[in-house]
Amino acid sequence: MPATFATFKRLKDKGLAAMREGDYVAAKPYLIQAAECMIEISEANKDPAQRGEQETYAKELLELAKDCDRRAARGPGGGARRDRARDGEEAETKADDWIVREKPNVKFADIAGLDDVKGEIQLKMLYPFQHPELAQRYGITVGGGVLLFGPPGTGKTMFAKAIAAELDATMFVISPAQIMSKWVGEAEQNIKKLFEAAKAESKSVIFMDEVEALVPRRRDQQSTVMQRVVPQILQEIEGFDRKSDRALMFLGATNEPWSLDPAMLRPGRLDAKIYVPLPDAEARFKLFEIYLGKRPVADDIDFSKLVELTAGYSGADIKALAERSASRPFLESVAGATPRNINMADMQAVLADMPPSVGQRDVEKFEKWATEN
Ligand SMILES: Nc1ncnc2c1ncn2[C@@H]1O[C@H](COP(=O)(O)OP(=O)(O)OP(=O)(O)O)[C@@H](O)[C@H]1O
Ligand SMILES: [Mg+2]
Repeated sequence: MPATFATFKRLKDKGLAAMREGDYVAAKPYLIQAAECMIEISEANKDPAQRGEQETYAKELLELAKDCDRRAARGPGGGARRDRARDGEEAETKADDWIVREKPNVKFADIAGLDDVKGEIQLKMLYPFQHPELAQRYGITVGGGVLLFGPPGTGKTMFAKAIAAELDATMFVISPAQIMSKWVGEAEQNIKKLFEAAKAESKSVIFMDEVEALVPRRRDQQSTVMQRVVPQILQEIEGFDRKSDRALMFLGATNEPWSLDPAMLRPGRLDAKIYVPLPDAEARFKLFEIYLGKRPVADDIDFSKLVELTAGYSGADIKALAERSASRPFLESVAGATPRNINMADMQAVLADMPPSVGQRDVEKFEKWATEN
């Protein structure tokens, strides 16, 4: 039977649930099977970008399984408490291995379209930082919590990086999966450290992808760590001193906003909600310029026609389309043909085989949520 997402999810959930219960011996085989399942899924995936992501995900699960070994070796109840008792220093150095600091160099100009979104981000985040005196004069709040939501592949992660880069802020990247893997048993302590580290910088952006994963899927599934962790994060966000010259921003991204705990969306928390939609015609034009611009293209390449053909496609889809189209003349020339430019027939052949990754029904779901929230 081929590996499916459902099987994968079942195995992964079982593994993570066992980890949360502190049963690392039981968790390990589930995590390994989940990783194997993800590798199988990735091998069948024709999209190189997605395949890469899935491979990374599988590797993370294997890391997690290794972590289970280490924790199991400490015996029942092993973990944070014994760690700290044994060696206070170790706990300190460990903070650095889960806080990923980044200085991204993506610019707003690298992002096609989404001008409304850029404007909103400038108003809420860039200008108050860049003009603190004016912001204070007009009582404009600085920083805070922002939720980026929208279909997959629309540039949310890219946007988060661009925000940090435009602000010249340090970016702290964390994911709920990391909370599960590295923080089990010591989550509160580590969240405190994360926010302390972020506050120590003059400008920082904490970015949490897949923020909906913080909320346990099934209410009956006793996830005590998560139940403690979510309110703590929310409290930290609420506690930002928005008038000081140090600025801290919490950015969450999700493509399942409806699964979020409503408590996360209350005022003072992730209250600025920004919809990152599929690219419109103008944005798709720009996307083709970005992703075909540096490649040799034939005279018959018709940007307007491509824009027309790709209504409903995401930015990530258009990037993949350009890559796959380029691989056609590339493979031919590798096989000995005289190198030729990418032409319209290449693009159309790839498109014929590549439906948009986001369905119309999903788009409607996002739009409905956006108007209701
Ligand atoms: N508006 C855009 N402008 C330029 N490139 C884009 C845009 N949207 C998507 N892309 C391309 O698609 C890739 C995937 O985008 P990104 O990872 O930011 O999407 P996402 O919204 O975070 O998706 P997911 O919800 O799956 O995490 C980017 O690395 C970028 O190359
Ligand atoms: Mg993303």
